[in-house]
Amino acid sequence: MTLKGKHIVAGITGSIAAYKAAVLVRLLVKEGAEVKVMMTALAKEFITPLTMATLSRNPVLVDFFDPENGAWNSHVDLGLWADALLIAPATANTIAGMAAGTAGNLLLATYLAARCPVFVAPAMDLDMFRHTATTQNIQTLQARGVHIIEPSTGALASGLDGKGRMEEPEKIVRYVVDAMQPGDCAGKKVLVTAGPTYEPVDPVRFVGNRSSGRMGYALAEELAQRGAEVILVSGPTALSVKHPAIRRVDVQTAAEMYRAATEHFPAMDAAMMTAAVADFTPAAVQSEKIKDKQEFDLKLVPTKDIAAELGAAKRPGQVLAGFALETHNETENAVKKLTKKNFNFIVLNSLNDAGAGFGHDTNKITIIDKDRHSVHFELKSKDRVAKDIVDRLVACWKQ
Ligand code: CTP
Repeated sequence: MTLKGKHIVAGITGSIAAYKAAVLVRLLVKEGAEVKVMMTALAKEFITPLTMATLSRNPVLVDFFDPENGAWNSHVDLGLWADALLIAPATANTIAGMAAGTAGNLLLATYLAARCPVFVAPAMDLDMFRHTATTQNIQTLQARGVHIIEPSTGALASGLDGKGRMEEPEKIVRYVVDAMQPGDCAGKKVLVTAGPTYEPVDPVRFVGNRSSGRMGYALAEELAQRGAEVILVSGPTALSVKHPAIRRVDVQTAAEMYRAATEHFPAMDAAMMTAAVADFTPAAVQSEKIKDKQEFDLKLVPTKDIAAELGAAKRPGQVLAGFALETHNETENAVKKLTKKNFNFIVLNSLNDAGAGFGHDTNKITIIDKDRHSVHFELKSKDRVAKDIVDRLVACWKQ
């Protein structure tokens, strides 16, 4: 039983595919889950609460309170009770309500209150499914980390043929089971530094660099998806965090990043240093905006090397990984950094490789370890690169 002891709120909305929810709930129970079924008012027209209560072995929840006796169905308690919220079938209307954050029925309110993974299996007519409004709502949910279980293509209740059929219950349950298995980073705490740092010159100007933060954010998401608790110490970026297991600590300067990283590192199982930390910062910050349009010298002083500091403090069992972005003598320079900063491994990317480094969605990396053993990877999306890097981290923990 792969879902043994898991609490699942199974939401059913008003679609003809609601009849499949009976099989779905039966399969969830068979996998060992405790299931509470929540139905919208319209869903009751497609399948009876009696059927669903019998199969789930729990009373079906429809309203915020029971009109008979006034008993309150607390959406907050239900949201916290759930280890997973699965909405299948999910209509265009419910998906829109979730994207907009409305709380007009018990199911939508529970979605807002839930802290657990959320799975949505859409079911609707093909034109409704491919409508820009629905497409955008689904993208909004995905950006928030909601799992969308894609509908399949085939004959629809409307008589039309196309994409919009709710996925078969067996496949939905398989998807949920896979996503709910503890990842290989479960129980681990990982610090990730990401993005650039901005070193102020005066109240409006700064010295910075072109780092977008994308590699660090992709790593943080990958770690969180695989079960880690992540502290993401981030310089200024335009990115947002999706996974609830990522705690973002915003910093501006190298000094602030140093303070945040050194404060959190002792409690961590690993640190991944992806930030492009400024190597120099202005010796003095002007308190007023510099107005004179005359030539002047800006005195810069070195910042602290955060990675080297963590490398010196590293205790047995902690893994520290760094990044090197090089333009020449790539391997030699990367190995020097690996040794100097006491990294377990270093991720090298070369600005000579098209599609690698700053500002791209892709990256091409080489991972070099303490024994100077290197592994080259193909050009991939930063999300895929993050998987390769986390695989290496997991291998280090196992050593
Ligand atoms: N790093 C850091 N703190 C700094 C500088 C770098 O934590 N003050 C980390 C980076 O996050 C990266 C690694 O050290 O993981 C290498 O960064 P890089 O800037 O390439 O190294 P430097 O030591 O600054 O070397 P150089 O600028 O001479 O290439």
